Amino acid sequence: MTFEPTQNTTPSPLLPAAVCFDGCTGELGGGNLNTPLQKLRRTIGDLIGVFADQQAYNEIAPGTLAYEANLYLPVKQGTQGGLFFGNTKVMPMMIGNEYNMTKGHFHKNRDAAEYYWCIAGEGALILMNEDRSCRAEYMTPGSLHYIPGRTAHRVANIGKHVLTLGACWPADAGHDYETIAKQGFSARLLCVNGKPQLVDIDKRENEHDRC
Ligand SMILES: [Fe+2]
Repeated sequence: MTFEPTQNTTPSPLLPAAVCFDGCTGELGGGNLNTPLQKLRRTIGDLIGVFADQQAYNEIAPGTLAYEANLYLPVKQGTQGGLFFGNTKVMPMMIGNEYNMTKGHFHKNRDAAEYYWCIAGEGALILMNEDRSCRAEYMTPGSLHYIPGRTAHRVANIGKHVLTLGACWPADAGHDYETIAKQGFSARLLCVNGKPQLVDIDKRENEHDRC
């Protein structure tokens, strides 16, 4: 269902907002011709190499929706001082014993920070510093998450329903997906005894090296 903002009730001479945001559902609506909303859609087939269990990954149809985002980009990418805004919906799904999650990225402009906040569902924000130390924050409706610069970030859905989050980030942040595609995160969020647990995989690999 599309969110329909009530722009026609704006009293004259006030201008309607360029975009309306439903704080309960995270839906973005409206927009004007100069700044249309952009959609991003990632299927399981787009997430090659992201999940640990290759067999479980192969058993899911490649066209299955993993997550989608609606983006409001009112200025050009790279505009100093500009801000972008968006929502993301991460589908509830297990790939083996790993929770469905976003690809994750550093910002190209390493100093750029970002806000995430949880609107609906239950999730985990997985954060990794440049020294590869990893941590995760619990996302629940109303939780606000400050992602500092120089910190890779990805979101996992740990609940049974769609995880919806909002985001606001600098227009000159950029996205560095390549570093994560090559090096991955140092830890994976796995379901262990029915509960999410951040498992250090760098340490595991080092232990294997010693065997
Ligand atoms: Fe980001």
